[in-house]
Amino acid sequence: QAKLVETSKRLAAYQAVKDHLLSSYTRIGIGSGSTVVYVVEAIAALGPAATADMIFYPTGAQSEDLIEAAGLRLQYINKLPAAEQLDVAFDGADEVDADLNLIKGGGACLWQEKLVATAAKRFVCVADFRKLSARLGTSWKKGIPIEVLPMAAPRVLAELKAMGSHNPRIRPGLPGKAGAIVTDNGMWIIDAPFTPLLLPRDAEEGGIKAGNGDNGVWQVDALADKLIKIPGVAEIGLFYGNNGLEIASGAQKPVAAYF
Ligand code: A5P
Repeated sequence: QAKLVETSKRLAAYQAVKDHLLSSYTRIGIGSGSTVVYVVEAIAALGPAATADMIFYPTGAQSEDLIEAAGLRLQYINKLPAAEQLDVAFDGADEVDADLNLIKGGGACLWQEKLVATAAKRFVCVADFRKLSARLGTSWKKGIPIEVLPMAAPRVLAELKAMGSHNPRIRPGLPGKAGAIVTDNGMWIIDAPFTPLLLPRDAEEGGIKAGNGDNGVWQVDALADKLIKIPGVAEIGLFYGNNGLEIASGAQKPVAAYF
């Protein structure tokens, strides 16, 4: 299985780069995680001549190292003029639903990932076959990663429980390290499991009661709107919205997902 998963990530990454990295592009976002390693490998394999005019924007320390190790040009997202956009951003995901809404943040990089994804004209998701499920929360059972201000964590946990999250918890640090995991932004992560989330279109098409948290059932967008408003929450690992747009300019949701 492990070999199959790695092969799947690699194939998806090479195909995504082939389809979505046009030679005219100059600004490219590079996400985080083990799948993105293959994205960078596929880009580096194009050779120095092909990438000479391209600048790569990371989503955290791991992604920064990847870009540098591949000999690609690095720049930070705060150096991108606010009126301009990246041509494309590539990133992995922990789970992808039938409408390409995502759970992200398994590697604790979600805040900068959302910053880069929404700064891009096109956001392309690269994932292996394990990540695809009909509803978010079905395969990634660890919960929705939520980046929080450490001093707000107890109140955020209480609010999450009140919203119906089953046993939300502060993510521990790496094995052998005491305390919580600390993100690239000096924050903590809370993983908040919810029962599988309804798609926004479930309510629109009728038949299913709108998932506004009644009986612990949530629609992706309704839950995201509520989570982001909890005081002390910096960012959430739900990437969603922009249904029906062909080019998801400035969107959190990818234009294409490769498995
Ligand atoms: C990082 O915080 C995440 O959003 C990753 O993009 C996600 O966890 C996917 O990682 P893998 O490619 O390692 O599965």
